[in-house]
Amino acid sequence: MNGEAKRSAPAYACKESGGVMPAHVAIIMDGNGRWAAQRGLPRLEGHRRGVEAIRRAVRIAGDLGIRYLTVYSFSAENWRRPAQEVSDLMGLLKRFVRHDLAELHANNIRVRIIGEREGLASDIRLLLDEAEHLTRSNTGLTLIIAFNYGGRQEIVSAVRALAQRVKEGSLDPAEIDMAAIESGLDTHGIPDPDLVIRTSGEQRVSNFLTWQTAYSEFVFLPGFWPDFDETAFKAAIDEYFRRERRFGGLSAQAV
Ligand code: IPE
Ligand code: IPE
Ligand code: MG
Repeated sequence: MNGEAKRSAPAYACKESGGVMPAHVAIIMDGNGRWAAQRGLPRLEGHRRGVEAIRRAVRIAGDLGIRYLTVYSFSAENWRRPAQEVSDLMGLLKRFVRHDLAELHANNIRVRIIGEREGLASDIRLLLDEAEHLTRSNTGLTLIIAFNYGGRQEIVSAVRALAQRVKEGSLDPAEIDMAAIESGLDTHGIPDPDLVIRTSGEQRVSNFLTWQTAYSEFVFLPGFWPDFDETAFKAAIDEYFRRERRFGGLSAQAV
């Protein structure tokens, strides 16, 4: 969204800040393992509680009038974890889709999945396809689940598809522009995130939405993901309201 759109959007305004609600919030849900370790629990318990926090985040995002919510559930690099943990995370995704899909659909939520589908077990792929297909015409919040997702890998795929078209003679390299690359990203049609939230105090991007976050605002929260609640969500949004987005232009005071 550009500066003009932000000024004119008739969105929900936070009383304290008078800001305009971000259209797209993307969350790096981090700290499940440390949340569990602090309590002497297995990491799986942290991931289970992390799923509860996703449910809360979806509800709050809908209540706040946010249009797009992206959650980073499994990175392309998370395969480096022990096989048991990888299998636990796959199991939790399956359970989440099986258990929550009907309710998401009933709540008019459109589900999109981004990330590499090849390399996932066929039962998971079928579930992800089903979630997108069932909810494709819904008009409420769009919930984007980044699963087996890597921002760099996504750009490589988009570029490879363009290169293929050049090879076949249907695309002139001179026609390759930002829109051409964007059209090959998993996120095509989805506006760039206005706000990226990362929990757990880590301050890095970890290969999340590399292309799309060129002008996103980043808010880093100290709490672990399983504790994410309405207070934390509103704190991040209030911090966003205090930012001035310039997109390379000048401050509103300076013009
Ligand atoms: C986030 O929590 C969930 C995933 C990355 C799948 P972590 O599992 O990274 O938790 P920490 O960072 O080890 O505490
Ligand atoms: C990023 O968290 C990936 C997800 C939240 C799914 P990680 O815990 O995997 O990131 P690093 O390894 O600490 O950068
Ligand atoms: Mg982590």
